[in-house]
Amino acid sequence: MSKVTVIGAGNVGATCANVLAHKDIVKEVVLIDIVGNLAKGKALDTWQQAPVDGYSTYLSGGDDYAATEGSEIVVITAGVPRKPGMSRDDLISTNARIVKTVTENIMKHSKNPILIVVSNPLDVMTLACWRSSGLVSSRVFGMAGILDIARYRAFLATALNCSPKDIQALIMGGHGDTMVPLPRYTTVAGIPVTELIGKEELDAIVHRTAVGGGELVTLMGTSAWYAPGAAAAQMVESIVKDEKRIFPVCAKLDGQYGLHDIFLGVPVKLGKKGIEQIIEVKLTADEQVLLNNSAAAVKSVIDVYNNMQL
Ligand code: APR
Repeated sequence: MSKVTVIGAGNVGATCANVLAHKDIVKEVVLIDIVGNLAKGKALDTWQQAPVDGYSTYLSGGDDYAATEGSEIVVITAGVPRKPGMSRDDLISTNARIVKTVTENIMKHSKNPILIVVSNPLDVMTLACWRSSGLVSSRVFGMAGILDIARYRAFLATALNCSPKDIQALIMGGHGDTMVPLPRYTTVAGIPVTELIGKEELDAIVHRTAVGGGELVTLMGTSAWYAPGAAAAQMVESIVKDEKRIFPVCAKLDGQYGLHDIFLGVPVKLGKKGIEQIIEVKLTADEQVLLNNSAAAVKSVIDVYNNMQL
């Protein structure tokens, strides 16, 4: 793999490009923004970091999609971020138009790329991107689960005073307050988390995770970027290196978990072909209800999007 494009050179896009460069796994990263000089400047800044940090990935930026020609992977972060008091769903009309235009422009210059959507509301923006792309759904998916799990792992690491590296977890469902953390699948170096922490404390962490994005919006006046940018870069890495890592990813479901025609967070295997497998874990009846509720919440946003007739 040689070329990755990141659309949107704001907080998340620029961070993703920067983290990707540090991984030193692709020849070139192209940063595109409607504000061309911003993309050009941030790409140049990160390229000037290369001699200091020791990577070879070349970065360029601007507003001309011709520069994205032949991209194997495109990360879409273009859009407006949340402000205090807004839900992710409030962004829908603005970001749906942006994602549609951006996707059409990408497809003019790259044949059969893999598209990773980061713009919110994530589950619906991924659907919008897929529809505009004409690509098979295994090549169009969204980044949310890695971030949600990262937040959960970080909170648990603080509570348990241990390294977040040793915490494994699974969260499914939509990227919103209805996400479905599965404590049953949370382990610390193989030890079930329930053996290390009381139910009340775990429930509080699960709740804090579900509203974790909002906590940062309140603190910073805009949505987060370090963890989201790094999470998107980790997905790129699994694809570029064909690692076949298993992450929760916002993927199109065609019957899995009893759900149809929806993009929702589920565990998948990510490799050079994109989503190489959607993994169906056995849910308890209670967990399935939570997943169904989350799907219903996403469907209601899809209805709003469909009624916009973009
Ligand atoms: N084409 C290209 N870039 C665009 C377009 C467009 N049509 N419209 C907006 N942009 C750019 C903006 O100019 C800005 O630089 O997208 C960038 C968004 O950056 P920020 O405002 O810093 O937002 P950020 O925090 O990066 O979030 C971007 O990711 O996590 C989600 O909810 C978040 O939807 C939001 C997206």
